[in-house]
Amino acid sequence: MSRNELFDITGQVAVLTGGAGVLCAEMALSLGRAGAKVVLLDIGEEAMEGLSQKLDGEGIENLSIKTNVLDKSSIEEAARKTLDAFGRVDILINGAGGNKPAATTGPDKPFFDMPEDAVKWVFDLNFMGTFLVCQVFGKYMAEQKSGNIINISSMNAITPLTKIPAYSAAKAAVSNFTQWLAVHVSHHYSTDIRVNAIAPGFLLTDQNRFLLTNKEDGSLTDRGKTIIDHTPAGRFGDPEDLVSTIMWLVAPSSKFVHGIVVPIDGGFSAFSGV
Ligand SMILES: NC(=O)c1ccc[n+]([C@@H]2O[C@H](COP(=O)([O-])OP(=O)(O)OC[C@H]3O[C@@H](n4cnc5c(N)ncnc54)[C@H](O)[C@@H]3O)[C@@H](O)[C@H]2O)c1
Repeated sequence: MSRNELFDITGQVAVLTGGAGVLCAEMALSLGRAGAKVVLLDIGEEAMEGLSQKLDGEGIENLSIKTNVLDKSSIEEAARKTLDAFGRVDILINGAGGNKPAATTGPDKPFFDMPEDAVKWVFDLNFMGTFLVCQVFGKYMAEQKSGNIINISSMNAITPLTKIPAYSAAKAAVSNFTQWLAVHVSHHYSTDIRVNAIAPGFLLTDQNRFLLTNKEDGSLTDRGKTIIDHTPAGRFGDPEDLVSTIMWLVAPSSKFVHGIVVPIDGGFSAFSGV
């Protein structure tokens, strides 16, 4: 392979759920700059519109489809619209996810009283929101006998963090499912479909700001400080820190990289704390 062919994704169709979110927006821009056509699926229409304008401004072909990753008919409609517009789907990044305060323990929120609906909401968004999209878009990949799926796990999947049991369990399920699906698609559909995941460390975004910073002045909470202390790189990650791994995983030359979960965590998972 020539140097260009190693990483060439020109003309590939990249679908990103949670596409308007902080992390996926950065990935969408990078994939687009590398020549991919970008399809944003998100429940947030306004944020998608803003990102779409940015992509337009850079001459990146793109499509935004309001989609709820917890509603299979909504995902199926998104897949039909994607296929109508671009005829295929090469890359799927499952970025829709998040946590919420009601599914978080605290001094006045004991585990024993954690509301079932909040736990279910967080678990479903992170796990079922990945599972269902893999079912719908994966079926098209199985038919075209090629594709590249990247799920988003988390450091929580390796060792659970305190306070957020539903989110931790769901991300552990995402890592496990990533391996399961990698084997399943190879055994039953095509060895040209790959499934991997990334496990980001700690990036400050809307979904965790309430845990890591104080609302009043933006200073770090004790939890935020502990994370920085346990991250050898000494900082939170930036969305751009994830991009090179995404570009590596989607590269045609990475076709033997399959069924793995890649930590991108500034060394967090390597540090015992001592
Ligand atoms: N920020 C971090 O530190 C961090 C660390 C590890 C993993 N992650 C994971 O990375 C992914 C992206 O997170 P982010 O930090 O960019 O968060 P974000 O809140 O900025 O983005 C999440 C996006 O998902 C969308 N979304 C929520 N519910 C949806 C639904 N039902 N259907 C469709 N879209 C929906 C939101 O509108 C939002 O645009 C998530 O899976 C998150 O769990 C984040």
